[in-house]
Amino acid sequence: MSDERTWKLLELLREATQFLSSKGLESSRLEAEWMLSSALDIRRIDLYLQFEKVLTGTEVESFRSLVRQRLAGRPLQYITGDAGFRLLDLTVDERVLVPRPETEILVEEALTHLGEQPAGQILDVGCGSGAIAVSVARECEAARLVATDLSRAAIAVARVNAERHSVAERIRFFCGDLLAPLATDARFAVILSNPPYIASTDIPTLQPEIRDHEPHLALDGGADGLDVVRRLVPLAARHLLPAGRLLIEVGAGQSDVVESLLEDSGFDASTIYTRADLTGIPRVVTGATPGR
Ligand SMILES: C[S@@+](CC[C@H](N)C(=O)[O-])C[C@H]1O[C@@H](n2cnc3c(N)ncnc32)[C@H](O)[C@@H]1O
Repeated sequence: MSDERTWKLLELLREATQFLSSKGLESSRLEAEWMLSSALDIRRIDLYLQFEKVLTGTEVESFRSLVRQRLAGRPLQYITGDAGFRLLDLTVDERVLVPRPETEILVEEALTHLGEQPAGQILDVGCGSGAIAVSVARECEAARLVATDLSRAAIAVARVNAERHSVAERIRFFCGDLLAPLATDARFAVILSNPPYIASTDIPTLQPEIRDHEPHLALDGGADGLDVVRRLVPLAARHLLPAGRLLIEVGAGQSDVVESLLEDSGFDASTIYTRADLTGIPRVVTGATPGR
């Protein structure tokens, strides 16, 4: 990309789109728009009103620095600092996993059950950016939540998102392993989790964008990917109210094993099922503890 000339917004956008595309980026125009709106600190839609605007040298250089980061493989969401999730824009950076569309299904499934569950608090284990907890709080006004994460840095990001979306007073955050930071007699109506579930041996084979930038604590689920799930399911059974419901996101090919784990931990077999994601992969395993 050449320097020392005057750039109008649309010219720069077109040039960057071509450049990103020539380097193999699929959604090059869209990504260029997100980065340019971030560099100019305006909404993406407002780019369209300013195509003829002549950019300052500083604006051009700050955009180019974002493009360089993208070409170096940094995920777009970390570059712009924002990730869309359900109804929300969430603040994200390297401290947390970029929230995925599959996880939107977990939230959707949870919301369908909230009315049926015993009154009580909802727990999000491994809250990361707060995608699940903040979304549930925003989409269910009555919800009171607790959220845990082993990463103190992730909890700091989740708190930012809870504040950003005005639900901080309804979510309490705790740092620690699974449910360890909670009182032993704490009981929940619903427990939600998108735990790390990638097998350790698969981590080196992930796309470099994921492998080299997202936190491995959020990805690595041990030998077969289910280390955290195996510990979480029986703990969840002990911390759910009667007829309380657990929902866990799983990886491709893991749902049968996880359904069996629920049954072995005393969940009511007639309530256990798996919901597929939009690509047809069995994605959210759920079951309820026996009722009163
Ligand atoms: C797959 S990420 C999910 C993040 C977020 N809930 C989402 O859906 O985008 C898993 C999260 O679990 C956390 N985690 C990993 N092991 C944990 C453990 N033993 N106890 C609590 N949290 C853990 C990670 O730090 C990470 O934030």
